[in-house]
Amino acid sequence: MAEYKRFLSAVALAACVGLAGCGRDDTPAATPAADSPAAAAEPAQRDPREAEVLSAEEYLALPRFAAADMQRGERVFLQCRACHSLAENEPHRPAGPNLWNMFGSQAAQREGFAFSDALKDSGVVWTPATLEDWLMRPSTFVPGNRMAFAGIRREEDRTHLIAYLLQATSPAGE
Ligand code: HEC
Repeated sequence: MAEYKRFLSAVALAACVGLAGCGRDDTPAATPAADSPAAAAEPAQRDPREAEVLSAEEYLALPRFAAADMQRGERVFLQCRACHSLAENEPHRPAGPNLWNMFGSQAAQREGFAFSDALKDSGVVWTPATLEDWLMRPSTFVPGNRMAFAGIRREEDRTHLIAYLLQATSPAGE
């Protein structure tokens, strides 16, 4: 288990190499900075519709995501890319599951990936609201999960990323 964790950290580190600013926002979970209250800013005002199960199109029409920048979202996704594929029928990466069609689905239900019991038992359904809570600090949102990722501190980075994921993981026209 410890070795697996070390492997995942190495993957996360490798994903950071060459990315300006990557280390700045994603301090390893064990450092004091990541544990300080200011480490993950709460969303100022969350639209209650972000917690409902809507279509990707409907989420993207909400003012917050309508104003998001997909290219910036794609750049934030560089932090995830070593571990996650997004497109339909793309295989899971060794270090993380494929995320196609994740919105509206229950956590840890994808076939062929060995999810942790913590995530399987979480009862989480992925919406922009739960995804944002997860991305602020995965270890707090679902204690004991196996995603070796400290979190995304800046709310605007989460906004662009969630909009990008809505676009990149959802069937068109739904
Ligand atoms: C070091 C590898 C790694 C990185 C980096 C990483 N993840 Fe993950 N992710 C995982 C693993 C492993 C799991 C499964 C966790 C478990 O089973 O406890 C996971 C699970 C998830 C899930 C839940 C999938 C499901 O089917 O329930 C989402 C959503 C997710 N990650 C999004 C992201 C996003 C977005 C980023 C970038 C900001 C990211 N992850 C960065 C490894 C990673």
